Amino acid sequence: MFTDKIELKDFDKMDQEYKELLGHVLTIQADCEIGGPHLYVEKMLPAAPTKLDQLIVARTAAEEIDHYRKVARLAGEIGVDVSFVLSQPNEKRFVDTFRGSITTWADNAVFGFLIDRVGRYQLEEFYDCSYLPLQRILPDIVTEELGHIEYGYNKTLELIQSGDAGKAKAQKAVDYWYVRALDMFGRADSKKSERYRHWGLKRRTNQQARQDYMNEVAPILRQMGLQLPDPNQGRRYF
Ligand SMILES: [Fe+2]
Ligand SMILES: [Fe+2]
Repeated sequence: MFTDKIELKDFDKMDQEYKELLGHVLTIQADCEIGGPHLYVEKMLPAAPTKLDQLIVARTAAEEIDHYRKVARLAGEIGVDVSFVLSQPNEKRFVDTFRGSITTWADNAVFGFLIDRVGRYQLEEFYDCSYLPLQRILPDIVTEELGHIEYGYNKTLELIQSGDAGKAKAQKAVDYWYVRALDMFGRADSKKSERYRHWGLKRRTNQQARQDYMNEVAPILRQMGLQLPDPNQGRRYF
């Protein structure tokens, strides 16, 4: 287990495996940051029900673009050019969740509530990680993610409280996104995940992080009056 903390100046001395894993994880993170806006801006920005919602959708997208920029800079510093993720089609995103597009306000709300929350979990994996420049960008990004999650939660709750039809829409969106959220944590037996942990780049196993997420979300859904979806229905990665 690697327990040192390193700076950019130490990077060249690191093992080849470390270099590759750090480059890879930054590339995926950059892709996920920009993947969100590419899912919802086109349809949801004009469809926002109020001017305030429209402003918040635009601001959320701007924050994700800034997260991309921060991660892309770190990657660039270690010689990894991630700019291709800016223009690649949604179908090529590293993570399945970001393929396709968001076309309903219910999906947009639940996306913030459930998927930005996975985003927060992914960032929390890097707390206390071995690469100090990565640690340093986390607090500001996570603060903004908390805002996205809360906005998604509030919009989902609004929909539920609007009546039976709204509640049914919210439940349908939760059923769709919940299993996608669980899949985002990856396979329980992932060899790569073990190597990330070995090099101090991640804290938890995929399964631990997924279980923590499930434990966090279940009481929130219950309190909102929604059914907890079957965690296996439609899942792809176990
Ligand atoms: Fe983000
Ligand atoms: Fe976000």
